[in-house]
Amino acid sequence: MTDPVRPGVLEQIRFLHELGVDALRLPGIPGPVVTAKAGAAGPLEAVRRDLGPCTRCALSEGRKNIVFGVGHPSARLMFIGEGPGEEEDRQGEPFVGRAGKLLDRMIAAIGLSREQVYIANIVKCRPPGNRNPHDDEIATCFGFLVAQIEAIQPQALVALGKVAASVLLQEPIAITRARGQMREFRGIPLMLTFHPAYLLRQYTRQNRQAVYDDLRQVKALVDQAGSG
Ligand code: URA
Repeated sequence: MTDPVRPGVLEQIRFLHELGVDALRLPGIPGPVVTAKAGAAGPLEAVRRDLGPCTRCALSEGRKNIVFGVGHPSARLMFIGEGPGEEEDRQGEPFVGRAGKLLDRMIAAIGLSREQVYIANIVKCRPPGNRNPHDDEIATCFGFLVAQIEAIQPQALVALGKVAASVLLQEPIAITRARGQMREFRGIPLMLTFHPAYLLRQYTRQNRQAVYDDLRQVKALVDQAGSG
């Protein structure tokens, strides 16, 4: 369906939906004009509310939608990418483009689904032309990612690619050397692996096996923590 809604209005509706509003009524119009299934309640909602219709950095100027995050609000495993691309910006959901389809397969390979994990990005608005996010943009957004992690309380994190790994660890990471390392972010185990977009570009058996090994390792850790 094409979107007949004026720019900005859809974002407002999405924002309200994420706050748990499931019906909108307008004076003089009988019945709800917009209905949606209520979003999952909990501390994540408070983070979304604090973020609001964010204009804290320049990325807000070019975006269509804030890409807050998606998945289970108390997921045991959380994936962190870099920033929304064109399709994510259009849909308001992380990893829905080509790289996202591969991420879904990576998640399925360890016996999980997109609904069981949580997926977010270092920045929540699309950098123009898919450039890397700038330091000031990362710094402005980072507190909200940390708040999401604190709300979700995952047992492990996966950094997808160099940017996510470098930002979370506050050190420059060469992902081809560092992938497979289990590090920590604020006491939470953090697996470093390839970004699915990199994997698409370098789709070798060796790279696929490497990512599978990384994800299996982090899944085993999460399973162990869950049974303890
Ligand atoms: N790449 C990312 O890092 N994040 C997305 O949401 C999509 C592509």
